Amino acid sequence: MNKLGKMIVVLLFRTNWRKLVFVCGVITIGSVLIQISTLFYPLSEFILPLPTSVSYYKSLQLENVRDGAIVVRLNSSAKVNQSMASSKNEGKELEYRREMNNLKSISVGKHLPSHMERYLLSLKPDEALSFVKKDIENAPLVSGDDPELYAPLFRNISIFKRSYEWMERILKVYIYKEGKRPIFHQPQLTGIYASEGWFMKLMEENKQFLTKDPQKAHLFYLPYSARQLQTVLYVRNSHNMKPLSIFLRDYVNMLAAKYPFWNRTRGSDHFLVACHDWGPYTLTEHEELTKNTIKALCNADVSQWIFVAGKDVSLPQTFIRNPKKPLKNVGGRRVSRRPILAFFAGNIHGRVRPILLKHWANKDEDMRIYGPLPNRLSYPQQMKSSKYCICPMGFEVNSPRIVEAIYYECVPVIIADNFVPPLNEALNWNAFSVVVDEKDIPRLKEILLAIPLKRYIVMQNNVKRLQKHFLWNVRPTRHDLFHMILHSIWASRINQIDQIPRL
Ligand SMILES: *[C@@H]1O[C@H](CO)[C@@H](O)[C@H](O)[C@H]1NC(C)=O
Ligand SMILES: *[C@@H]1O[C@H](CO)[C@@H](O)[C@H](O)[C@H]1NC(C)=O
Ligand SMILES: *[C@@H]1O[C@H](CO)[C@@H](O)[C@H](O)[C@H]1NC(C)=O
Ligand SMILES: *[C@@H]1O[C@H](CO)[C@@H](O)[C@H](O)[C@H]1NC(C)=O
Repeated sequence: MNKLGKMIVVLLFRTNWRKLVFVCGVITIGSVLIQISTLFYPLSEFILPLPTSVSYYKSLQLENVRDGAIVVRLNSSAKVNQSMASSKNEGKELEYRREMNNLKSISVGKHLPSHMERYLLSLKPDEALSFVKKDIENAPLVSGDDPELYAPLFRNISIFKRSYEWMERILKVYIYKEGKRPIFHQPQLTGIYASEGWFMKLMEENKQFLTKDPQKAHLFYLPYSARQLQTVLYVRNSHNMKPLSIFLRDYVNMLAAKYPFWNRTRGSDHFLVACHDWGPYTLTEHEELTKNTIKALCNADVSQWIFVAGKDVSLPQTFIRNPKKPLKNVGGRRVSRRPILAFFAGNIHGRVRPILLKHWANKDEDMRIYGPLPNRLSYPQQMKSSKYCICPMGFEVNSPRIVEAIYYECVPVIIADNFVPPLNEALNWNAFSVVVDEKDIPRLKEILLAIPLKRYIVMQNNVKRLQKHFLWNVRPTRHDLFHMILHSIWASRINQIDQIPRL
């Protein structure tokens, strides 16, 4: 009862006097909760409508005060159960069911009925996500052609479309202001790590998805550049990434001490976007950052046990030469004007490229496999004149060639075991790429020739249709790369809504 006393004192401080009447309600509910906590039922969570919100944890400690609902957790690993069993919640549950039923008949892309809009706005971020998750699971089947989305490119177009529309409608992202330039808040828009910079720039400039009120946020962005972390903090030839990792650990601990948000979910509603090869390795001094945070990484290598397929997002690596014209040279020749079967040129490093060259350099007219590109050739022209563009891993599994191939309408051939291809949770890579196991490099030509022309033409057409989803637009457009990445992060957050680790 001592804790309950403390809670009342805190409430008196944080609520205004008119709300005093509710304190009685809080006491009543508090005693109900104490009774509930002695039950053995796996009652996971209650959300009780109240003007002031109090989060309790296992020990019924007062954790933080928010507005809108009392959130009670009796078991740390318990799942969020929005069906809310308590009789006190019946009104809310009925409303919830009614709104769910209403939803089935409407298209979220269109204007929502105003009562629905009001209802969704009245929900806390997690409740809204839970609601949306259920709706997406029952997404209406998309039939017929959508002028904006080409169904064969997607794993499940119905789910993607519904999920995307919900994102447009409700997603709010909070960006921490903390962190100094140049590591934070300073996007770099050129080079092979430009994806992290472009994402940062477009996110920070965004009007639609940002919120200044962290209480309203579904996602929290850690606005740093992995590339800059390396430039600023790595001691040349030290072979030691630890200072980078310690720097990020301290940054996260600072945020966790200053705000309630990190501890609330142990970082699982936070995300980062890092394209530099070292991205995953610089997280390892902070366990929650490594395990819980949603990581959009170019280096999407599942064998390192840092990137988690399904939870983390494989960030497309894009090589931007001219940030004023990120789309320069996009386009390619039609199939009949692609005389080269397979093309690769690049530096020879990592485990795969030496083997590729050993088997295919200067061996076969159809297989144009080079080390560094001979001066007389143009890289974009070679890609535009080839049927297949070979994308072997470099030092790490990822390669900017995959997106280049898409830009130049060449079917990518990925050779990188344990690599999760970009935006894999949404896209159906079978429809527009070929994946060859590293051990099959000696059979590369045979594998490519075995693909019937008809199937090749379908894949190449899909690559063309895919292009718009991989473009960085100075002013983002629907379904472009910025939105696709944000959608994958959003989808990961929604997938986890039932299993957020809590204390
Ligand atoms: C929470 O409940 C689950 C099963 O519902 C149980 O396995 C687990 O041990 C419980 N955890 C705690 C901390 O009580
Ligand atoms: C949530 O609670 C309802 C009772 O209201 C129950 O029927 C349902 O099985 C529970 N779901 C989970 C995942 O525990
Ligand atoms: C896509 O998802 C919807 C909704 O869950 C499901 O009904 C449908 O069968 C799925 N379609 C495919 C092709 O898997
Ligand atoms: C979050 O947890 C950490 C360690 O568990 C603690 O040091 C920090 O003070 C907590 N933050 C808040 C806002 O309570």
